[in-house]
Amino acid sequence: MTQPAIQYRLIKKEKHTGARLGELITPHGTFPTPMFMPVGTLATVKTMSPEELKEMGAGVILSNTYHLWLRPGEDIVAEAGGLHKFMNWDQPILTDSGGFQVFSLADMRNIEEAGVHFRNHINGSKMFLSPEKAIDIQNKLGSDIMMSLDECPPYDESYDYVKNSIERTTRWAERGLKAHANPEMQGLFGIVQGAGHKDLRKQSAKDLVSLDFPGYSIGGLSVGEPKAEMNRMLEYTTPLIPENKPRYLMGVGAADSLIDGAIRGVDMFDCVLPTRIARNGTCMTSKGRLVVKNAKFARDFRPIDEQCNCYTCRNYTRAYVRHLLKCDETFGIRLTTYHNLHFLLHLMEQVRQAIRDDQLLEFREQFFEEYGFNEE
Ligand code: GUN
Ligand code: ZN
Repeated sequence: MTQPAIQYRLIKKEKHTGARLGELITPHGTFPTPMFMPVGTLATVKTMSPEELKEMGAGVILSNTYHLWLRPGEDIVAEAGGLHKFMNWDQPILTDSGGFQVFSLADMRNIEEAGVHFRNHINGSKMFLSPEKAIDIQNKLGSDIMMSLDECPPYDESYDYVKNSIERTTRWAERGLKAHANPEMQGLFGIVQGAGHKDLRKQSAKDLVSLDFPGYSIGGLSVGEPKAEMNRMLEYTTPLIPENKPRYLMGVGAADSLIDGAIRGVDMFDCVLPTRIARNGTCMTSKGRLVVKNAKFARDFRPIDEQCNCYTCRNYTRAYVRHLLKCDETFGIRLTTYHNLHFLLHLMEQVRQAIRDDQLLEFREQFFEEYGFNEE
């Protein structure tokens, strides 16, 4: 037997919660968990250089099968020597499978056992994504961690629909495993779905676990359901995943949800939230969100977050960043993007320290007191 590409090492369980301190060992290096992964949809974390990402402590980034398939095409990336070389990022990369993006971006989706037919969002031409195709593209991209093609049904979708859907998603995951060309170089995760139905979440987890993936994603959450509901479902789902495998909660990046996810045993998170809101002038700070574009900051010569020591906060003021954003200067969104990513990466560092100290609930309390609850 060859070594699997991905190995999770559990270092410590927190005493009073389900949180775990660990690390994920990949062919492009090891990162500590729980970890937040910045999103680089089109082989770039918008406006940030790889050097800046490393400097702020990003140990792994995410990219998207769907987008790179459309532009520039996986063959060009493969010709460049893979995604790492193409984008000059030598650390771990995780790619999403394209399923979620097809469902959220493309038109005229038609899902069948073989895969999903759709019109792409760039030029409207007809395309077909099968579980094998999703794997083939990711094999060509050469990401360290790949995702199985899945369907993400709405949270309130009916029991009968979701039951059929998770069973198909599991069959797709199994087809993906068979199609996977180099499991010793790239780890493939299965994605637990089940919408708001507990026993379907259980069935999905159980069936995927029997296929023995090197890691498991939890999908179909943070899709509009209340946060308490997401936490309840997470609390139920994470214990269904073997302790020696990493758990990745897809598409979650609000600061409060990262802490609450870690408490329930999640190891990895990703979301466009910090980078997306940065581009419209919203900053995450230790005192909650700050809309730096607001007129009230015109003469505010303090840093964005007085408790932050990121590049932006060490060197620039709210008044300056506001001015740049108001004038549509690119440097403004570089500064807010840098700060927001640094904020979440630093938050995860604090979470890991709190797990080491068995103080995660105390940390949560302190954080929420300043930050405020339920920012969404
Ligand atoms: N990103 C956020 N949620 C999901 C999901 O349910 N599935 C996939 N593939 N990606 C996601
Ligand atoms: Zn900062």
